[in-house]
Amino acid sequence: MDKTPRMLQMVSTLVLILSVSSLASASLEVGFYSSTCPSAETIVRNTVNKAISDNPGVAAGLIRMHFHDCFVRGCDGSVLLASTSGNPTAERDNFVNNPSLRGFEVIEEAKTEVEAACPQTVSCADILAFAARDSVVKVGGTNYEVPSGRRDGRVSIGDEVPQNVPRPTLSADELVTNFARKGLSADEMVTLSGAHSIGVSHCSSFSNRLYSFNDTFQQDPSMDASYAATLKATCPAPPSATDPTVALDPSTPIRLDNKYYEGLMNHRGLLTSDQTLYTSHSTKEMVQTNAYNGATWAQKFAQAMVRMGSIEVLTGSDGEIRKHCSFVN
Ligand code: HEM
Ligand SMILES: *[C@@H]1O[C@H](CO)[C@@H](O)[C@H](O)[C@H]1NC(C)=O
Repeated sequence: MDKTPRMLQMVSTLVLILSVSSLASASLEVGFYSSTCPSAETIVRNTVNKAISDNPGVAAGLIRMHFHDCFVRGCDGSVLLASTSGNPTAERDNFVNNPSLRGFEVIEEAKTEVEAACPQTVSCADILAFAARDSVVKVGGTNYEVPSGRRDGRVSIGDEVPQNVPRPTLSADELVTNFARKGLSADEMVTLSGAHSIGVSHCSSFSNRLYSFNDTFQQDPSMDASYAATLKATCPAPPSATDPTVALDPSTPIRLDNKYYEGLMNHRGLLTSDQTLYTSHSTKEMVQTNAYNGATWAQKFAQAMVRMGSIEVLTGSDGEIRKHCSFVN
């Protein structure tokens, strides 16, 4: 009996399994730098912890920055690239990110220190993914291991930000569609929205809910009236020269926890995209589940961050390892 055909069949099945699973995990691996730069994750953690101790808002900034990186051309550090004369509006200077995105200087500092230890070894995209995880931990979230091995992209186009990053006026169904385009489920979308348990929003991101909701209602009827009154005290009616910020979750503004979901159940979601998760039938139960079980939500949040961190990553010899996070080599 000739065993070769069966062997060939087994080998090709194995190759198929391997290639399918590498697609799913995008070939990132935990401890990718364990031999090439063993101190990388520690250096990032120390830099991030110190920055958050000085200013807790940095944690929110870095978690959001990782999200905005991953949703535009994948988690490739493209959000970190500065505009240049040849590319006057990079992602970070699109209106969605500028002036609200913060924490760039923390990534720069971490990169400088990592470069001193291991020149041109650790990508900016990975440093940002580590920094987001360290931020989660520092403000009370569940720790998780970050698969790494991302490479840095060389393209950053401002117009691609509003085409990919969801706008705060979207409905639950639109948010589900937006996240599905990145391979994330409705439950993952609702789980990750819990990041709005920390940080701030500019008034301009929700002031339509206070002053110009629609023809019949000036104020969004899905927002608690006393909460709306409090917000109006800080947020001037548009058009206004100033654009102050308010806490996304005033109950625990610098603690990553599930109080955000309780807020939604009390009609105290700040953005339309927050409150819609509770008013919409398709996601209401997910909000309740997260509100009732904080420990489970925290676990799911960590897992969803890993999944978000693997969106359309560059690996192997694609892209590059930048020398400076703001500029391509
Ligand atoms: C579900 C769709 C989402 C929408 C529509 C959305 C929209 C927004 C908006 C409009 C702001 C306020 C920006 C400003 O005006 O200053 C904000 C802040 C924030 N977002 Fe989201 N976001 C979403 C999902 C996420 C996800 C998935 C994460 C991370 C996992 C995240 C993390 C944050 C954080 C931490 C802040 C506070 C930033 C700071 O204080 O600097 N968001 N988001
Ligand atoms: C205004 O919003 C309310 C509540 O969502 C809705 O019932 C009503 O039909 C809307 N009116 C107009 C004119 O769009």
